[in-house]
This record gives sequence, C-alpha cells and structure tokens, in this order.
Amino acid sequence: MTALHFFLFTLFTVSVHAHNITEILNQFPEYSVFNSYLSQTKLADEINSRETITVLALPNGAMSAVVDKHPLSVIKNVLSLHVLLDYFDGTKLHKISDGTTTSTTLYQTTGNAHGNVGSVNITDLKGGKVGFGSAIPNSPLASTYTKSVKQIQYNISVLEVSAPIIAPGILTAPAPSGDFNITGALEKAGCKTFASLLVKSGVLKTYQTAIEKGLTIFAPNDEAFKGAKVPDLSQLSSADVVSLLQYHAIPSYTPIGTLKTKKDPISTLATNGASKYDLKASTEGDQVTLDTGVDSSRIASTVIDSTPFCIFTVDSVLLPEELYGKSPSPAPGPAPETSPTPAPAPAPEANSPTPMMSPPAPPTSSPADSPTADSENSTAKKKNAGNVNTPALLKALLTVSVSMPNM
Ligand SMILES: *[C@@H]1O[C@H](CO)[C@@H](O)[C@H](O)[C@H]1NC(C)=O
Ligand SMILES: *[C@@H]1O[C@H](CO)[C@@H](O)[C@H](O)[C@H]1NC(C)=O
Ligand SMILES: *[C@@H]1O[C@H](CO)[C@@H](O)[C@H](O)[C@H]1NC(C)=O
Ligand SMILES: *[C@@H]1O[C@H](CO)[C@@H](O)[C@H](O)[C@H]1NC(C)=O
Ligand SMILES: *[C@@H]1O[C@H](CO)[C@@H](O)[C@H](O)[C@H]1NC(C)=O
Repeated sequence: MTALHFFLFTLFTVSVHAHNITEILNQFPEYSVFNSYLSQTKLADEINSRETITVLALPNGAMSAVVDKHPLSVIKNVLSLHVLLDYFDGTKLHKISDGTTTSTTLYQTTGNAHGNVGSVNITDLKGGKVGFGSAIPNSPLASTYTKSVKQIQYNISVLEVSAPIIAPGILTAPAPSGDFNITGALEKAGCKTFASLLVKSGVLKTYQTAIEKGLTIFAPNDEAFKGAKVPDLSQLSSADVVSLLQYHAIPSYTPIGTLKTKKDPISTLATNGASKYDLKASTEGDQVTLDTGVDSSRIASTVIDSTPFCIFTVDSVLLPEELYGKSPSPAPGPAPETSPTPAPAPAPEANSPTPMMSPPAPPTSSPADSPTADSENSTAKKKNAGNVNTPALLKALLTVSVSMPNM
C-alpha cells in the first residue's frame, strides 16, 4: 500500500465513521429509552451518516409521553424532529442573533412533512433559558435546553432537552398497515406503469402482506419504462415477471440512512434458497445508487417513509442478474418462435400469486411454479419458457400505460 493509498484509506475510514450516536448515548443510561428508539426506528443510521448535526436527547422520564400509546411510525416522526441539521452547542444556543431562529430537522427530509412542520423554533428566553418548539407559528416553546451531553466539534452535538417537541398533527398520523393504498401512492408519485404491473401480476398482494413486518419498495418511475433501456417484459414468463417485481422490494424497513450503511448484498422479496436476486447499495454524498450486477439505478425520491414501511422512486427498472445475465439486452435476439402446440398459458392472476403469498418462500416447495427453481440459467430458461408463457395481458398492459401518460 502506497503512502497515498494509506492516506486516502484513512481519510475515507475516518469520515465514514465520524460518529456513532448509539455508542455516544450508551455511556448515559438516563437516555437509554431514547437511544433504544433511535436504533429501532433506524434514525441512528441516519444520524451517523450525517455531519453537522445536533441531537436533542430526551431523558427516560420524558420519553414516556412519546412512546406510550403511539406506533413506531409516530415515534420516529417525533424523534426525527429532535435531530437538527445544524450544529448547536450550549454557547451557540445562547448567541442566536435576535434571540430566535428556526432549524431544519431530519423530519423535513422524510417526505412526510409539509410546509415548515419539519423545522423547530429555537428561542433564547428570558432568564437564560433556551426554548424549543415547532416552527409552525404560535406553537408553544414547551421544551427547554437543560444541559450539554457530548460534543464532537462541528460534527455532532448532543444536548438534553426537558420535554418532547411536538409539531401539530404529528401524533395523530395513521400508521401504515395492510390497508395502505400502495398503488394510490405510486400513481401520485409518477409510477403508474409499475403500479399497474403490480396489480396485474398479483405481486401487489405480496407487498401488502409484507408491510407490517417491514417493507421497502423501489418503484421505477414511468420514464423508466420508456426509451431505449427498457427491458422487454413481454419476453419474460409470468413467473419471471413476478420475480422481477418482487426484486423491486426488500422485506425489511430500510430507510435511506440505513441503505447508506449497507455494504453487503441486500436480499429482496424475490430471493429464495435457489436464487440470490440481491442488489447492492452505494453512496456518494447524499446520492444512493442500487447496483443489480447488470445495471445500476439512482434512488430519485422518497414517496413515503413511515416505519416499518418505505417507498422510493428509482430512475430505471432494476434488472436482476438471474433474468438478464451480465449484459442487459433490451431487445433480446432470436427468440424461439411461438410453439406450434402452445401449452395453455396460465393467466398471470391465476398462477403467480399463489407461490408468492409468503415472501421468504420455501426453496423447493413448488418446483414447477417457482420462478427460480426450474433453472438458474436465464438463457436456458428463456429457451424453455420464454415466449410460450408470454402473458399477452401484460404486453397489452404495458402498451396501454406507456401510450397513455395521463391516465
Ligand atoms: C468531523 O468530520 C470530519 C468529516 O467527516 C472528519 O474528517 C473529522 O475527523 C471529524 N472530527 C472529529 C473530531 O471526529
Ligand atoms: C455503533 O455502535 C453500536 C454499539 O456499540 C454498534 O452496535 C453499531 O454496530 C455501531 N454502528 C456502526 C455503524 O459502527
Ligand atoms: C419562535 O416562536 C416565538 C414564540 O411563538 C416567536 O415570537 C418567534 O418569532 C419564533 N421565531 C421564529 C424565527 O419564527
Ligand atoms: C387506491 O388509490 C387509487 C388511486 O387514488 C384508487 O383508484 C383506488 O381505488 C384506491 N384503492 C383503495 C383500495 O382504496
Ligand atoms: C447458460 O446457458 C447458456 C447456453 O447453454 C450458456 O452459453 C451460458 O454460459 C450459461 N450461463 C451460465 C451463467 O451458466
């Protein structure tokens, strides 16, 4: 290793592991409840991935008002209001110009916050106290600064505050459940084609069932289904389309800050004993990119992040190696002609959902129907099953949704 390499390596390592909020708070049992919820909600990953941040820690007594009676999604929203995207230590708090300011918080970055619901008001009160409240006008400054806990200069500051900062409406937001309207949210976010594919293939049901145990969806936007790079889904069997759509979700709550910490390949809903169907995440600054081994796609936006469920939009369809090999071929070459005696092709609705109802499907339970058990080699598989089982419906659907941008 040359000196330069060593230098770069050290620099990289230091900046990636600049701080670990869990470790910092582990030294203070009086914040153990707060600390535990930072981990459960994955806010700890988000905090660790940022610089210039202030954490307003709540003592255990003050946490009961937040954690009693509220779902994890609400607790996460409240706690994310306690992470300021700016550096304040005790001295700076008392030197705020004009005695009052607002600061953006992590809540503002979740896609749930509208207007300045995601900001807090910090005001230097009379008698040397500093008050915190929601930045929504006329909100009470009900929380006060009590003491400094820990500073790593200009990177992270941990301060203790007396009471939770509550923004209007934040406690009553419904938790996502099996009834959450996934297609409605996807359509609003500009992912109509993907939403229709989920419905037609039956994979929507798999997603819906998985929500409560944790689910993260990577939804290609409508642009991703247009243009030269679009994979020809009509070349896939209906079982492969199911795998492809399941490949666009992972069976755990993995918000952006957590994706940034993932170094190892990530399993998806399509993963089972026989096939990996995994992807890797890489981070550059704030940008997270997913790499399938065939192609990569940028995470473009957060549609919803509500523990234990989140949806992101991505710029292109994720192409698993299992279906597309090393080189993506948008327009696959000489495919076998339609079989002279076509086996009665099962309708996608009738066929696909059954083996998929439980995401981690047992590897060998239904070899005939399993999208992956028949062959690990996509070339061979296409020869066997490719065009014979082409779901005509799916082809038609794609044509319709692509040609009707405003349906
Ligand atoms: C603060 O963060 C920067 C950038 O990540 C890092 O280089 C520096 O070492 C950190 N400072 C401390 C005191 O850890
Ligand atoms: C942070 O510290 C906790 C507790 O020591 C540890 O479990 C966790 O793996 C650390 N996180 C990182 C990113 O190093
Ligand atoms: C913060 O709240 C106080 C009290 O409601 C208000 O007077 C002040 O203008 C607010 N500060 C900012 C920067 O909005
Ligand atoms: C979900 O939302 C879409 C679009 O807003 C709507 O058409 C559909 O009826 C909704 N589904 C349910 C089950 O509410
Ligand atoms: C898959 O099968 C084809 C044709 O038999 C062969 O050329 C190719 O190398 C195989 N690929 C893998 C990954 O085994």
